Amino acid sequence: MHTELISITEPDKEPGSIQKVAGYLQRGGLVAIPTETVYGLAANAFNSVAVAKIFAAKGRPGDNPLIVHIAEKEALDALVSDIPPAAKALMVAFWPGPLTLVFPKSEIIPDAVSAGLDTVAVRMPDHAVARAVIEAAGFPLAAPSANRSGSPSPTTAAHVMQDLAGKIAAVVDSGPCTVGLESTVVQVQGDCVRILRPGGITREMLEAVVGPVAMDSSVLEPVGEAPVASPGMKYKHYAPKANLTLLEGSAAQFAAYVNARAQEGTAALCFTGDEAALSVPCLVLGEKDRPEDQSANLFHLLREADVRQYKQVYARCPATAGLGLALLNRLLRAAAFEVIQL
Ligand code: TXA
Ligand code: MG
Repeated sequence: MHTELISITEPDKEPGSIQKVAGYLQRGGLVAIPTETVYGLAANAFNSVAVAKIFAAKGRPGDNPLIVHIAEKEALDALVSDIPPAAKALMVAFWPGPLTLVFPKSEIIPDAVSAGLDTVAVRMPDHAVARAVIEAAGFPLAAPSANRSGSPSPTTAAHVMQDLAGKIAAVVDSGPCTVGLESTVVQVQGDCVRILRPGGITREMLEAVVGPVAMDSSVLEPVGEAPVASPGMKYKHYAPKANLTLLEGSAAQFAAYVNARAQEGTAALCFTGDEAALSVPCLVLGEKDRPEDQSANLFHLLREADVRQYKQVYARCPATAGLGLALLNRLLRAAAFEVIQL
């Protein structure tokens, strides 16, 4: 299959391109689209055959459900059987934006989307191109991140092409994603609000709206054999081909540890300013106190580690406040939970 690359920067001024993308989706095809978090691999959420193609193209396990994307809040009613008050408050505060909410699903959601669960995850992206495509298609879009299952999520159209060229109808190129990490996935059951996956909307931001928020144990710990609230947390994720090891300690401790192990194929994933003390090549996440920049750069740098064929990458542990929690969650999975306290 030829994969068409379609560049769209201002959807209002490019109705022909938006229509072309909508046409692929209406014919049951797969198109990678930009969102503010990462690029998503989209299909008609109401078409089980189209949704099945997503799992095939990604090599995704069939028990890992998909997020349904909508262009306006009113579209939610048809997809869910109940909207708890706390979920409503979070929608008002954070939609459109990088927050996914898990609801009891309505009959209209195919089993292929919810992977057999009785819930459905929904979000409204804060990206004009994504919303224009959903509106033009005329149905919500099921869309996981547009990477091969297990590899780092794509934050540019080029990343999508690396993973999926030849397997999908088209990729929309709207430049790099601004957030760079996936949405926060939150389950609301009665008054209990629980983070299943940390992301662009931080725990602190959620708590400012609904009070104390619980965090699933899978956020910072490996999951065992027991059933998990968010099946995606079971799988090894975001992993570069290199072995990644997280080191917890000061800049000086990090440099001493890494320099003692410097050899061909070893690199450091570090903060701005750390490079001077390191004798290995560096992948620089950004300033230590700027988790937004680190988030925007992480997945690109994990892919860059592959391009440069590193074999061992040592990464500094981010602080866990704000967006740092989401960063640490992704790094822990990329490192298969290998953390060394210095
Ligand atoms: O930012 C994002 O969320 C991106 C963009 C494209 O929207 N999408 C994304 O999708 O990251 P994906 O499929 O890579 O991750 C979805 C996560 C998985 O961990 C999945 O298990 C979880 O959400 N999830 C989906 N439906 C769920 C449900 N009904 N209950 C619990 N977890 C669910
Ligand atoms: Mg994903």
